[in-house]
Amino acid sequence: MKKVQDFIVKGYKWLNDDNYIIELQSQEKIPDILPGQFAEIKIPNASDVFLRRPFSILDYNKNERSLSFYVKVIGKGTRKLGNLAAGESINVIYPLGNSFNIKQTGRALIIGGGSGIAPFILLARALQKSKIETTFLIGAKTKQDVFLSDVFSLFGKVYVTTEDGSAGEKGLVTQHSLFKNEMFNFDKIFTCGPDPMMKAVSCIAREKKVPCEASLENMMACGFGACLCCVTETKDGNKCVCTEGPVFDTNYLQWLI
Ligand SMILES: Cc1cc2nc3c(=O)[nH]c(=O)nc-3n(C[C@H](O)[C@H](O)[C@H](O)COP(=O)(O)OP(=O)(O)OC[C@H]3O[C@@H](n4cnc5c(N)ncnc54)[C@H](O)[C@@H]3O)c2cc1C
Ligand code: FES
Repeated sequence: MKKVQDFIVKGYKWLNDDNYIIELQSQEKIPDILPGQFAEIKIPNASDVFLRRPFSILDYNKNERSLSFYVKVIGKGTRKLGNLAAGESINVIYPLGNSFNIKQTGRALIIGGGSGIAPFILLARALQKSKIETTFLIGAKTKQDVFLSDVFSLFGKVYVTTEDGSAGEKGLVTQHSLFKNEMFNFDKIFTCGPDPMMKAVSCIAREKKVPCEASLENMMACGFGACLCCVTETKDGNKCVCTEGPVFDTNYLQWLI
């Protein structure tokens, strides 16, 4: 059930100059969170960042009453969120949205690009719990932009592509040799990242005749279905990503077909 809850900033782990993990802790209990769900965070002391900002829930710990988020600095909100003092109070609405569907998955391929890696720790944990073999394919511009691969390697084999070839195979995720017929051995794809990447991934999934789910990162304002600024075009008309997503079957999304 959705909660509005105060947390304090426990600390940061900076991954490079503009990517960080923020850990929050609360005095109240943490509810169960499904893989793919997100939170709307109110940026404290920022009168110029009026709207809450949406972030996938990277991880959570019920015993420690903590939540963590992976954040890429984009503009004012993500910069200010990265510069709070430890102990500062922060208000979070969560868990929001639907989740990935892991039922009837035999071998999973998780494809993440850019900040689209964030929902995949919780997904990997759920797949592991269900004894589903998982492979990761992470796409980035350069070696310096590949994050969390050490964490993903605890759950399965990790492959990387970089545009400049500084890590893994050179090129885009969809050019990786995993997609060659003799290498492709998956029956479900989960993806999150830039729209062109998800579009290319969904095309491949269709070619290979495997189901594919994508977690969308459309811009959001209210986060609860009132402003309609997050809509995406589906086979059944426009749907709010904040309430009916963020995870969709790619065959259901009109713009991905
Ligand atoms: C469901 C969901 C989950 C998300 N999860 C994560 C996550 O785990 N980690 C993470 O780093 N980011 C995530 N994002 C994106 C994140 O919400 C935005 O980067 C953030 O809101 C930008 O806020 P800002 O104030 O820094 O930038 P702003 O000042 O609001 O915007 C700066 C520039 O970035 C553009 N922009 C803003 N938001 C987005 C967006 N959602 N997509 C594309 N361009 C945008 C604006 O058009 C503007 O040009 C998620 C978004 C959604 C909808
Ligand atoms: S963000 Fe307002 S309707 Fe989705």
